Amino acid sequence: MQTRKLLITALLLASSTLLSASSEEAKALTTKKCSECHMIDSMTDTHGANGHIKAPPMWGVMRKIRENFKTKDEVIAFLIDYTLNPASEKMLFPKATEEYFGLMPSQKGKLTEEELAIIAQYLYQ
Ligand code: HEC
Repeated sequence: MQTRKLLITALLLASSTLLSASSEEAKALTTKKCSECHMIDSMTDTHGANGHIKAPPMWGVMRKIRENFKTKDEVIAFLIDYTLNPASEKMLFPKATEEYFGLMPSQKGKLTEEELAIIAQYLYQ
């Protein structure tokens, strides 16, 4: 129930805050918060990765999510929930991904709900 409430709040925030965040700001925020591990633009964008790939690239993550969820709300809800509460049993990627990279550490406390809502909207587009 608690998680559900959080998701609904985040979704509501997403629709209202997007109006104030330009896509450039959203991109910069996503790069700041996620690119330490995920390549944001392409396979060749190694920003922050120091040449070592620490996680699947974001385009791969998004392709996987889109294969599994039909609506925008479901895609965004999954992104928000997984970023705050990653778990083996929620993974859409196969077990081998976890064995290779390790489970994603929770980003709880590293970004606000509002920031996460902006990032999820940005990644969806
Ligand atoms: C400290 C490294 C790290 C950071 C920072 C990070 N991730 Fe991840 N992420 C991972 C790893 C490793 C995986 C692959 C293993 C897994 O799925 O848990 C992953 C997987 C994912 C998945 C796919 C889960 C699945 O298997 O279905 C999503 C969605 C995701 N990350 C979103 C994000 C978002 C959004 C951000 C930025 C707010 C972010 N991550 C920041 C390490 C990170």
